[in-house]
Amino acid sequence: MGRRRWLFVLAIFAYLLSFSCGRVLNLKSDDGRPVYNHTLAVTLVEYASAVYMSDLTELFTWTCERCNGLTKGFQVIDIIVDIEHCLQAYVGVAKELNAIIIAFRGTQEHSIQNWVSDLFWKQLDLNYPDMPDAMVHHGFYSAYHNTTVRPAVLGAVKRAKESYGSNINIMVTGHSMGGAMASFCGLDLVVNEGEENVQVMTFGQPRVGNAAFASYYSLLVPNTFRITHDRDIVPHLPPYYYLFPQKTYHHFPTEVWLREFSFSNLVLFGMERVCDNTGEDPTCSRSVMGTSISDHLRYFGVELMCETWRQCSIVMSREVESYSRKDSKGNIFLSRTVPSTDIIETSTLSKTGIASL
Ligand SMILES: *[C@@H]1O[C@H](CO)[C@@H](O)[C@H](O)[C@H]1NC(C)=O
Ligand SMILES: *[C@@H]1O[C@H](CO)[C@@H](O)[C@H](O)[C@H]1NC(C)=O
Repeated sequence: MGRRRWLFVLAIFAYLLSFSCGRVLNLKSDDGRPVYNHTLAVTLVEYASAVYMSDLTELFTWTCERCNGLTKGFQVIDIIVDIEHCLQAYVGVAKELNAIIIAFRGTQEHSIQNWVSDLFWKQLDLNYPDMPDAMVHHGFYSAYHNTTVRPAVLGAVKRAKESYGSNINIMVTGHSMGGAMASFCGLDLVVNEGEENVQVMTFGQPRVGNAAFASYYSLLVPNTFRITHDRDIVPHLPPYYYLFPQKTYHHFPTEVWLREFSFSNLVLFGMERVCDNTGEDPTCSRSVMGTSISDHLRYFGVELMCETWRQCSIVMSREVESYSRKDSKGNIFLSRTVPSTDIIETSTLSKTGIASL
C-alpha cells in the first residue's frame, strides 16, 4: 500500500513536470532505458501467437502446433476463456526465461476489417482511476478490468509466485487488442499488485490512451516495447491528431519498428529500429502510411490470428475437463496447481472424445 501511494505521488509529480515542459516526458536518459532484446521478442511473439489456438487441450498441455518452437517446455497454469466477451488469455511459467508469461488474444470478431474500421472512431471516454488527466478507451480498459480475465490472471500469477518464488519476472504479451489488454495488465500489476519485475511486449497494438496516460504508463512500466510491423494499420489507430497533441490518443514508448524491404513479394531483408522515448517517434512507423492488414497478422514470420475466423470457437477433450470449471455465465477456466507433478502426459491423450463447445 505504501509503495503504491509512493508510485502515484511520483507519477503525478512526473506528469506535472512533463506538462510544464509542454511535451511528453523523457523518463530516463537514453543510456538508462531498458534494452530491447530481439531474442526475447521472437520468443514472445510465439506466446502471443499460441493464445489464438482454439483447441484448449493442446494449449493446456502445450502441444499445439504453435507451441513447438522457442517456447518448448512452457508450463501452462491457467487458461481463461471469457465466452461472454469472446476473450482468451493464459498464464504459465517459462523456466528458461525465469518468467511468468501472461498472453492475451486479439479480437476474434467475424472480420478483422470491421474491427479495424471501428478503431477509427474509438473515443477517449474513461478517466483512468487515480491518474489525473489520464484518459483511455473504455472498451479496451474494460476488456481487461471488467471481465473474468483480470481476477483469473491475478490469481494464476499469485499461485505461480507461491511455487516459483517471488523473484520470478513477469512478462506480459499480446497482439492487436490483446496488446492493449497486455498493457493494462502490466500497469495493473505494478500499480495495484506492487509487482516490480514487470515487462510488457506487444505486437501491433492500437493506441489505448492520451498523452497523460502515456506519461504515467511509461514511468510505471518502463520496460515496455511495442513492436510494430512495417505498415501494420492497427498501431496507427485510433488516430493521432497532430494539431491537438494533448487531446488525442498517444502511444507510450518504446516502439520497435520492423521494416521489410522486398522485391516482388520476396522479402530481401528486414530491419529493426528501436524508436525514441516519446512513444510517437515521427521517424518510425509514423513516417509511413499504415494501410496494411497483412502486416498486422504476421510478426517475425509468425502468424497472429486464429486458424479460422469462426467467432469464439473452442474445443476441449474429456481428459482436460477435470481441470476445467465453468462459471454461471459459461466462461471457462482451466487451472492446475503448481509446481505440477500432475502434468498430463500428452502421449496418453487420445484424440477421441473431443467435445465441441
Ligand atoms: C535476451 O533474451 C534471452 C532470452 O530470450 C536471454 O537468454 C538473453 O540473455 C537476453 N539478452 C540480453 C542481452 O539480455
Ligand atoms: C462493467 O460491466 C458491467 C456489465 O458487464 C456494466 O454494467 C458496468 O457498467 C461495467 N463497469 C465499467 C466500469 O465499465
